[in-house]
Amino acid sequence: MQVVVFSDAEMRDFGARVGVFLSGGEVIELVGDIGAGKTTFTKGLAVGLEIDEDVQSPTFTINRTYSTAHGLTLSHYDFYRLNDAGILRAELSESVNDPNTITVIEWAEVVADVLPTDTLRILIRTQADDSRIIELVSGGRQSQKVMEQLA
Ligand SMILES: Nc1ncnc2c1ncn2[C@@H]1O[C@H](COP(=O)(O)OP(=O)(O)OP(=O)(O)O)[C@@H](O)[C@H]1O
Ligand SMILES: [Mg+2]
Repeated sequence: MQVVVFSDAEMRDFGARVGVFLSGGEVIELVGDIGAGKTTFTKGLAVGLEIDEDVQSPTFTINRTYSTAHGLTLSHYDFYRLNDAGILRAELSESVNDPNTITVIEWAEVVADVLPTDTLRILIRTQADDSRIIELVSGGRQSQKVMEQLA
């Protein structure tokens, strides 16, 4: 599935659309260059999940968690430039296995072995006109369900 967004606001709106279809247990991998819009997407996702707080990039803290209006947790990771996720590997493993947590990961390469096969991979490509081509790739049943609802 492929979507094109033409602005920061449209990226947020797309994130919000995805967010409303999440029910807990989903793992979302955000793949794209620096400034592609991974965090912007996550800000929208939080809106769709009815999270009151403003999502901040977790680049320096690596992880931030937020509570949704319906008792779920959004756990947002950013492993940029980490060669070793260290103690966070155990925490991430707990997060991806928790049915009440939605886990979103930027720069997931270093923790690829901790992730389940059923992830929703969101690939973001920046175009010369600042639009973004977003491609969604499902790794299994749960992520497939989210994609079907979006279609
Ligand atoms: N069509 C668009 N979609 C998303 N963001 C856009 C778009 N056009 C411009 N932008 C801008 O691009 C930037 C995207 O930044 P963002 O922090 O979301 O990227 P990121 O992928 O999380 O980067 P990093 O890898 O550094 O964490 C923002 O400043 C946003 O306003
Ligand atoms: Mg980011």
